Amino acid sequence: MSHAMSVKHNYLKTNNINNGEDIFRKFLNHLVINIIFILMHDLRLSMDKHELPFIQDMFESIAHRYDLLNRTLSLKQDIMWRNKLVQTLDLSGNENILDVASGTGDVALSICQQYPSVHIHCIDFSFNMLRLANQKIKASPHTLINTACADAFDLPYPSEYFHAATMAFGIRNVVNKQKLLRTLYHHLVPGGQLLILELTLPEIIVLQNLYLLYFKKLLPMIGRMISKNSFAYDYLPNSVISFPPSLDFSKMMKASGFKGVKWLPMTGGICTLFVGSRAD
Ligand SMILES: C[S@@+](CC[C@H](N)C(=O)[O-])C[C@H]1O[C@@H](n2cnc3c(N)ncnc32)[C@H](O)[C@@H]1O
Repeated sequence: MSHAMSVKHNYLKTNNINNGEDIFRKFLNHLVINIIFILMHDLRLSMDKHELPFIQDMFESIAHRYDLLNRTLSLKQDIMWRNKLVQTLDLSGNENILDVASGTGDVALSICQQYPSVHIHCIDFSFNMLRLANQKIKASPHTLINTACADAFDLPYPSEYFHAATMAFGIRNVVNKQKLLRTLYHHLVPGGQLLILELTLPEIIVLQNLYLLYFKKLLPMIGRMISKNSFAYDYLPNSVISFPPSLDFSKMMKASGFKGVKWLPMTGGICTLFVGSRAD
């Protein structure tokens, strides 16, 4: 073989090897990228399944200031919103009612004012919030309110036990809303009502922008001053912003089996009452 031919031959050989190496490297890169993508996808999925780990601690730490902050930040509108929930309840007398994420017990106490003979079972996973609820219940004339420290996903009651379930300002902290709605459905008697109050964004854009200004700038500042917990009141606007639009949330309720689902925006849409009942 001439020198020129041997150079060409070697060049072709190395080139072939290089091509082979390139293909192998590209294949490896592709494989690594795909594995990372699959791992990230799985991680995202498994994160979706898990509830936010800091919620319980956050409420434990702001409990002592919760009522004051609620009244101040909502300009006392929260009382009116809970009253609307109570007016929408359709009860006849001594039914069992479940109040999920009861906090300091305001929903239960409002229900008892209108329906003094119903049995209300309050659950919340924050011990400090429930301690305050117990103090308020003890100071009230109502004796048919029980409280239990429990997770909303793991209710210590039998299925088909409640004639109505209420949840005020709790569901936006829940990641797997669909699962919680199904849990509540399971614990309601056929025809039992579900009433959910939640902070929402006004749908009128001008109002929404004004509200966001208050919500993102002023509210965290006031919250920080009163509760000394800056994280909680930075988290609050974000949790409201990421709550699904009312139509989407109502679809979630329907998908969980609820019928007659409707929603009522209040105070320009900054709070919405969602209502539905368990199908027979
Ligand atoms: C914003 S407070 C609302 C309290 C009360 N319902 C009211 O109207 O003022 C939310 C409450 O939900 C509770 N909470 C959040 N996620 C919960 C869960 N998975 N199980 C039980 N309680 C939960 C918190 O501990 C907190 O007390």
